Parts: sequence; structure tokens; C-alpha cells
Amino acid sequence: MQTLSLFLNFLIIVLEVRFSDAFTRNDFPDDFLFGAASSAYQEDVKMMAEMGLEAFRFSISWTRLIPNGRGPINPKGLWFYKNFIKELRNHGIEPHVTLYHYDLPQNLEDEYGGWLNRKVIEDFTAFADVCFREFGDDVKLWTTINEATIFAIASYSDGFAPPGHCSSSKFINCSTGNSSTEPYIAGHNMLLAHASASKLYKLKYKSKQRGSIGLSIYAFGLSPYTNSKDDEIATQRAKDFLFGWMLKPLVFGDYPDVMKRTLGPRLPVFSEEESELVKGSSEFIGIIHYLTNYVTNRSSKPSLLSTSKGFYTDMGVEMINTGNFSLFEWEAIPWGLEIVLEYLKQSYNNPPIYILENGKPMKHDSMLEDTSRVEYMQGYIGAMLNAIKNGSDTRGYFVWSMIDVYELLSGYTYPFGMYYVNFSDLNLKRSPKLSASWYSGFLNGTIDVTSQDITQLQSNFSGSSSM
Ligand SMILES: *[C@@H]1O[C@H](CO)[C@@H](O)[C@H](O)[C@H]1NC(C)=O
Ligand SMILES: *[C@@H]1O[C@H](CO)[C@@H](O)[C@H](O)[C@H]1NC(C)=O
Ligand SMILES: *[C@@H]1O[C@H](CO)[C@@H](O)[C@H](O)[C@H]1NC(C)=O
Ligand SMILES: *[C@@H]1O[C@H](CO)[C@@H](O)[C@H](O)[C@H]1NC(C)=O
Ligand SMILES: *[C@@H]1O[C@H](CO)[C@@H](O)[C@H](O)[C@H]1NC(C)=O
Ligand SMILES: *[C@@H]1O[C@H](CO)[C@@H](O)[C@H](O)[C@H]1NC(C)=O
Ligand SMILES: *[C@@H]1O[C@H](CO)[C@@H](O)[C@H](O)[C@H]1NC(C)=O
Ligand SMILES: *[C@@H]1O[C@H](CO)[C@@H](O)[C@H](O)[C@H]1NC(C)=O
Repeated sequence: MQTLSLFLNFLIIVLEVRFSDAFTRNDFPDDFLFGAASSAYQEDVKMMAEMGLEAFRFSISWTRLIPNGRGPINPKGLWFYKNFIKELRNHGIEPHVTLYHYDLPQNLEDEYGGWLNRKVIEDFTAFADVCFREFGDDVKLWTTINEATIFAIASYSDGFAPPGHCSSSKFINCSTGNSSTEPYIAGHNMLLAHASASKLYKLKYKSKQRGSIGLSIYAFGLSPYTNSKDDEIATQRAKDFLFGWMLKPLVFGDYPDVMKRTLGPRLPVFSEEESELVKGSSEFIGIIHYLTNYVTNRSSKPSLLSTSKGFYTDMGVEMINTGNFSLFEWEAIPWGLEIVLEYLKQSYNNPPIYILENGKPMKHDSMLEDTSRVEYMQGYIGAMLNAIKNGSDTRGYFVWSMIDVYELLSGYTYPFGMYYVNFSDLNLKRSPKLSASWYSGFLNGTIDVTSQDITQLQSNFSGSSSM
């Protein structure tokens, strides 16, 4: 009897959980945008339309448009982007344009050291001006710089992203750089370049074009490793370094106190005028979210991804991966996204947010049944819905990536695509994976998110799919 009632209780709980977890596209606001993303790769508009994408995020390659970084425009590049953006619009797909995605014109790097020099502010603003002028009638959403935080860290502290600056350590040799100063200088110039482009947009284009402009940061989910006071403080410090570094200036006009205290003269200082320029310059915050870490109060161990003197040692915490993790294969931790959205809501005046990247890498093989990717997407979209129901002003979600593309760290071996690309095929033949089929069914309202639907979807898919 006792056992039976326990069993019944259990059953009821399971049913309730399943019921409250179930959701559909219609649970999100009508003007919420579901899309997919890539960087400089764009083709395939017809495929996106068939899939039912509401939005597409891509980047404009600076050198394709202005080959020398400044000066004359390349007419072919201009034509290509105009045409592509019109195509998206004609298919009812909202373009979300990223102006800068790791691709500084080599010319500007050679001439004055790129992001380390304040001259980049003027050149970036001039490039943005061309984009606003030429594409702004059709583009309403602009992200200035892709994952600015991790870009500054990877390129100027860790040295593994271009231009590969770092203080050499036993894990990496860099021919030039200083990991204890350069990430902060580059980050400062990024904030000023973003703010300058944003000001230009507001003065010259916004009243006519009615778009909005934001900066994007990489946002780990961060949670204390133990319930000790020390780990709680360490987690707040990590949030200040990883989010506050850029968000505090954008929302409140200055760097977090803990960064000023820790870095002293190594952290650039905003003049009053710059502070005013930067404050309020991001009408939305773009976030790139994949991973969640536990945080503990220990100085970070030097590793492949963190030099002995640099951003991570300044932060003074150790980040511990949740659960099963390897660099290119990880499990879904949807609550990690929920706590990020909740934190931004509570600590940064509930800014409008676009989740500009979220997705799962999987080994590149001809297996089209990427069930764990579908589960990953369902989990994160559900977590986002929870945050929205609790007041987060999240306005869009973009899956990374639409098709298999060349990844910065893993090349073609662990792509994120919802479409399989046969890289040996002369025509680079694309085939939809289960995730593409699930996402499109979710968007057109024929698939509700319940576990039953995955099973059905799987069996429908294996019955119909072919390479
Ligand atoms: C860095 O360069 C030094 C000197 O050439 C060499 O001994 C060391 O093995 C190199 N380290 C790495 C990680 O490549
Ligand atoms: C890096 O910059 C710091 C602070 O200016 C300085 O003390 C240090 O010597 C520099 N390191 C290198 C390798 O140049
Ligand atoms: C926490 O970290 C700080 C800074 O590294 C250190 O001074 C303090 O002793 C640490 N606390 C514990 C309990 O390890
Ligand atoms: C970790 O991965 C192993 C092997 O794939 C699996 O058996 C195990 O259940 C996983 N653990 C968790 C907590 O997901
Ligand atoms: C929901 O929002 C309220 C108010 O900001 C906050 O106190 C609460 O912790 C949030 N709930 C969750 C589950 O995050
Ligand atoms: C990929 O394309 C090559 C060349 O056309 C073909 O031989 C191969 O079977 C294709 N692979 C798959 C998984 O379809
Ligand atoms: C919805 O999407 C699914 C999956 O791609 C597709 O099979 C179905 O035909 C679509 N239904 C409608 C009404 O568009
Ligand atoms: C699977 O196919 C059946 C029969 O065509 C259809 O009724 C059902 O809606 C499909 N389910 C999913 C989740 O696609």
C-alpha cells in the first residue's frame, strides 16, 4: 500500500514535470525571433526559408567590403551583401548583422597594431558607416563586435586566436605580446569603437532606419563550486571579470571596482567624455552561450588556454567543468543559461537580450540522427522560456550553426551544423540532420516539445532521410 502510494506520487510528479516542461513556439512572444547563425559563410537562403527560419545572423567581412580596411569600397563585395540581404528579406527572414567577427583587415594590423591602437576606433566607425548607409534600410539589428570579451582574452592573453599575442608560457610561444596588459587595452578600444559606431548610428541613421545596435559578449554559466562564502565571492569576482568588464561600462559607464583594484594601472581609465560615450551605447546585449562552469577560490592552474600571467590569473578563480566535458564534446546544462539571463536581469537593469549563439558540436560523420543536439536545443530553449516567464527581456535565439562550417578551434572535425555538409563532394552537398527537421517543425508549430515527440520525430526521420 505504502509502496503503491509512493509509486503513484512519483508518477504524478513525473507527469507534472513533463507537463510543465512542455512548450511550443506559441509560448514565446510573436515578435520573438528564432534563427540560426554563421560568420562569413552565407549561401543557402532557399534552404533557410524552407526550414522556416525567422532570422539569420551573419557577419560582414570588412575586407570583402573595404579591401584595405579603409578607403575605396569593393563594388563586388557591396553587390554581394546587398543582394544577400534583399534575398533574406524577400523570404521573410530578418537579418541580424555582426560587423566584426575576428577578421581585422591585415593592413590595419600591419600599419598600427590593430585593436591595440586607438586608431582602430576611427577606422571601425568608418566601416560601420558604410554598412549602415548601404544596408541599413533592410537591416534592423546590428551587433558591432562578436564575443568581445573572449576575443580580447583569446587574442591578447591566451594567444590562440589571431593576432596570437601572449606572454609565452610553457604551453605556448608567442613572438609578441603582454598578457597582463594587452587584453585590457584591446578590450578598452573595442568598447570605444563600439560606442563610437553606436553614436554615429544614433546621430545619422536611427531616426530613419529605426534599427538597434548592441555589443556581444561570451557568457559562461557560472555557479559556486561549494556553498562556502569564499566560493560565493569568487563567483561574483568571475562574473565581474567575465561579464562586468564590458557590461558595467556599457550600462553604468565604468569598470567594476574589483577589476580596478586588482589591475591598478594595467586597466585603462575612461575619461569623463568616454564614459558618457560608452554608457548606454548598447541598446541590447548579445550573448554567446555554450558552457557552464563551477567556480572556486583558487588561482587558476596554467593550462593550454591560460597563460601563467594573464586574464584568468588576474581573475583569481579556478573554473571547473560541470559533469562530462571534453573540449569538443559536452553535455547540456540548460540551467546555466537560465542563471546568466537571471543575473543580467537583476544586476544590469534587465537589458534586452539576444542569444546570438547556442548549440552543440558533434563529431563530423554521416550520422544524420543528432538526437543529443536536439535534446540540447530543447533544453536551452526551455531554460530561456523559464527566464522570460520570470521577467527576462530576451528577444531572440540563434542556433549555432545553420550548416557545418569550419570552426575556429576544431576545424571540420567537430562542426555544429543542423545541416550535414559532405566536404568531399564537389558540390558540398547538404543534408538535413534530425535537428534541422526538429527545429523547423518546432517553428511551424507542428512539433511540441515533449519527449514523446522526439521518439516520433526520430522514427519519422529515419524513415525519410537519405544522403
Ligand atoms: C618555446 O620555445 C622554446 C625555445 O625555442 C622551446 O624550448 C619550447 O619548447 C617552446 N615551447 C612550446 C610550447 O612550443
Ligand atoms: C608587461 O607589462 C607589465 C606592466 O606594464 C610589465 O611590468 C611587464 O614587464 C611586461 N612584460 C613583458 C614581457 O614585456
Ligand atoms: C580566497 O582567495 C583569496 C585570493 O586569492 C585568498 O587571499 C584567500 O586566502 C582565499 N581563501 C581561501 C579560504 O582559500
Ligand atoms: C559521462 O559519460 C559516460 C560515457 O559516455 C557515461 O557513461 C556517463 O553516464 C556520463 N555521466 C554523466 C553524469 O552524464
Ligand atoms: C525570478 O525573479 C525574481 C525577481 O527578480 C527573483 O528574485 C527570483 O530569484 C527569480 N527566480 C528564479 C528561479 O530565478
Ligand atoms: C560524399 O561525397 C563523396 C563524393 O561525391 C561520396 O563518394 C561520398 O559517398 C559522400 N559521403 C556521404 C556520407 O554521403
Ligand atoms: C512543418 O515542418 C515539418 C518538419 O520540417 C514538415 O515536415 C511539415 O511539412 C511542416 N508543416 C507545415 C504546415 O509547414
Ligand atoms: C510523424 O509522422 C506522422 C505520420 O505522417 C505524423 O502524423 C506526425 O505528426 C509526425 N510526427 C512528428 C513529430 O513529426
